[in-house]
Amino acid sequence: MNKVLIINSSVRNEKSHSRKLTQLFEENWKAKNPSDIFTYREVGLKQIPAINEKWIASAFVKPENRTEENQSGVELSDKLIKEFKEHDIYILGTPMYNWSIPSGLKSYIDQLMRINET
Ligand SMILES: Cc1cc2nc3c(=O)[nH]c(=O)nc-3n(C[C@H](O)[C@H](O)[C@H](O)COP(=O)(O)O)c2cc1C
Repeated sequence: MNKVLIINSSVRNEKSHSRKLTQLFEENWKAKNPSDIFTYREVGLKQIPAINEKWIASAFVKPENRTEENQSGVELSDKLIKEFKEHDIYILGTPMYNWSIPSGLKSYIDQLMRINET
């Protein structure tokens, strides 16, 4: 049994092609792996905040030395990292916006990539 995390990053919903593709992938995958569990992480319709100075200051403090202020700086990041590590397989649905990935997906990656964590 694998845990599969589907990450959707389009800012469109019903009209999104990338969402249709991740859905199609899920349907096909489930047919072959019926016991696998799927979770969705939304980073397009719900914006993930960009990292900021408080986040950076917090990320470089060891967990045991973090103040409450530090802790609040990485709270969302901790939650996203925990979710990410709980999964085995990742399916990423993304448009291309101006030769790059959507800003929500970039913010998600920035929140995930942490010293001593990932
Ligand atoms: C603001 C914007 C910028 C885009 N920039 C590019 C681009 O640089 N290169 C490209 O091939 N397609 C580009 N596209 C096309 C999208 O990648 C394409 O429409 C894709 O299907 C969008 O994903 P979605 O259907 O899941 O919303 C752009 C679309 C939008 C709305």
